[in-house]
Amino acid sequence: MWYLLGVFILGGVGVWWFIRWIGALRHPHYLSPFTDAPPYQFPEGFWWGTATAAQQVESQQNTDWTAFEKRAMAEGKFEKYTPEANNIGHIHQLGDYPAEVIAKKTDYDARFGEDLDTAAAMKHNAYRFSICWARLFPTAEQTEASEEGLRYYAAIFDKLETLGIKPSVTLFHFTTPAWFWEEKQGKRGWERSDALDQFGRFVQVVAEHFGGRCAHWCTLNEPVGWLYTSYLVGVFPPHEQRKGGLLAVARLAVRLLEAHTLAYDILKADAAKRNKTISVGIAKHTRAFEPYRNGAPLDRLAARIAEQSFVWDFLDAIHTGTYKVMGTPFQKIPGLAGKMDYVGINYYGRFYLKSDVFSPQRFSLFMHDPHDPNERKSELDWALYPHGFYRILQASHQRYQRPIYVLENGIDCRSLDDTQRQHFLVTHLREVWNAIHHAKADIRGYFHWSLLDNFEWAEGFTSRFGLIHVDYLHDFQRTPRKSAEVYTQIIQDNAISPEHWETAAF
Ligand code: FCB
Repeated sequence: MWYLLGVFILGGVGVWWFIRWIGALRHPHYLSPFTDAPPYQFPEGFWWGTATAAQQVESQQNTDWTAFEKRAMAEGKFEKYTPEANNIGHIHQLGDYPAEVIAKKTDYDARFGEDLDTAAAMKHNAYRFSICWARLFPTAEQTEASEEGLRYYAAIFDKLETLGIKPSVTLFHFTTPAWFWEEKQGKRGWERSDALDQFGRFVQVVAEHFGGRCAHWCTLNEPVGWLYTSYLVGVFPPHEQRKGGLLAVARLAVRLLEAHTLAYDILKADAAKRNKTISVGIAKHTRAFEPYRNGAPLDRLAARIAEQSFVWDFLDAIHTGTYKVMGTPFQKIPGLAGKMDYVGINYYGRFYLKSDVFSPQRFSLFMHDPHDPNERKSELDWALYPHGFYRILQASHQRYQRPIYVLENGIDCRSLDDTQRQHFLVTHLREVWNAIHHAKADIRGYFHWSLLDNFEWAEGFTSRFGLIHVDYLHDFQRTPRKSAEVYTQIIQDNAISPEHWETAAF
């Protein structure tokens, strides 16, 4: 009897230690503890730029998101959006903005020339934007792409070329044509049996028209984040809340991996015809997943599992050709293995995982520590965590041994004298430098999110991620924030100077 009890206790302690051992840790550092003094000099030829996405800056096209925006307005679902509430079908404070603003977003259609001039004045040598599928194929019936849509993007490429700014083009940045969501044999969107044919037709047109003008492509922006928000949480169209966690969306993840393979192949075939070298990858949304309490083994286990499934599974699948769910091979995707010429990283901060011993399969996710009043946060209450950026970049390098581009990194900070953004910019760029110098990561470029304030999806227009402020209520007037000056100087020096480090980092 005593013997059995002893085995039981020892076994329990063993399991507890095992979970602690494999679990993640909450790290005490805010900045990586390296002691190098500034200046922090970046490699020659480093790509410096900003990123935008079509639905967030361009006029409304015939997309699933435009349908959602119109529906939210018609149904009056535009009150304050809070992380705790059921916000499905709502867009935060959309009703505070006139119809013209909702339709034109930042009025970029009329002003991209001026905006790109500003990017050039800010010394950008690269710029990331997305091509809206629905702008080229607004209706289901058409067999040819819209001439007007093609002319619009051709003008953007022309402008970038004149300014000597290299384009980086994204093909799926959260939106698809509205007709793609009409049911076909009971399936909608990416689940339709013709989804890949339709997407392939779009990519083919983009390659034919713009393949000669772009050497850097991103097939999918944040596929896992999009699946999570659209099919599990439900705040993005198609607003589903499937039960069963990641397994419930694993088929969709596979479909997106197939879409990536297809787009990769089309772009590469086009480049081969042109005798051109191009680089194709995806943008992966990353966060530092850490336990809420280091002393709680289940928090640590949950953080480790969340990081693996949310950050790495999709990239691992491209690397190996097999998509795994919770470590179990789910599906091999023919022709996928190795189709990533670079690793695209989007990074916005830290998430905490908190478990409940009485219901161990469930856990809460916090975007900041509710019990730490001193934690640095953005105005969206996302915890800032530069050291986590270093860890992600270091891990990406170790896992995949490929060039890395930071395709997004930014903060919601609304004032014109945006000290928090200056701090964010300088501390995060120092972590990029640390990853290059200490982890020997081959990081080739950095795109700040974003060039200008824009429509932040279900968060609406109130969040402000721009280096340039947009006054939506006064003719979309643009005013560069203080951080735009800081970024320009960093680009010009190709380095973070001691002055910038001293004034902004602390
Ligand atoms: C990323 C999205 C981008 C923007 C930023 C703030 O997840 O890719 O479009 O909304 O967040």
